[in-house]
Amino acid sequence: MLPFGLPLTAEGLLQLPATKTIRRHLSDMRGYYADADAYAARLAAEDSLIYTFWETEYTGDTRGLSFGITEIVPGTVGREFHMTKGHFHASDGDEIYLTLKGRGKLLLQTRQGEARTYDMTPGGICYIPTGWGHRTVNVGAEPFIFVSIWPPHIVHDYESVQKYGFPQLMLQGDSGPVEAPNPRYQAG
Ligand code: F6R
Ligand code: ZN
Repeated sequence: MLPFGLPLTAEGLLQLPATKTIRRHLSDMRGYYADADAYAARLAAEDSLIYTFWETEYTGDTRGLSFGITEIVPGTVGREFHMTKGHFHASDGDEIYLTLKGRGKLLLQTRQGEARTYDMTPGGICYIPTGWGHRTVNVGAEPFIFVSIWPPHIVHDYESVQKYGFPQLMLQGDSGPVEAPNPRYQAG
């Protein structure tokens, strides 16, 4: 990695050459949304983009840092807001999220079933210690964009989240987002 200095804005950071661009569409999110009928109906209409993740992964020795920019498109599947798949870090390594644009929530869970939720608004920072599974949700009407920074050689565990979900769901209420318990959740 070469040194860089850029404004902490989506426009500034997106100038960086990403080593990987990952686009997750509705069809990549099978089994993630609580309302299976709403999921099937929307997918039948269109396989829309849910989020894009530009990643610059540090693959050298143990000194560097990896980082990514995630943009979640606004919208819902049924009443559930668009979100990332979410994962645990299966190896030691904490992570920092910095919000650039839009309005989001960070959902956290431990494998024992403890859950926490934090607001993500521009200029805000969230710290994710190892052991806390994490998912982000766009609860606004605009694209939600944040930066993530993590140490090298992290093993990302998506399987546990795919299997058990998160304890909390983030749903569209009458006057904004509301959190509800996930009926299908089991502690991993
Ligand atoms: C990396 C990290 C984030 C996510 C990104 C996409 O450790 O937590 O950069 O990878 O927001 O979400 P997932 O990986 O859950 O599809
Ligand atoms: Zn992570």
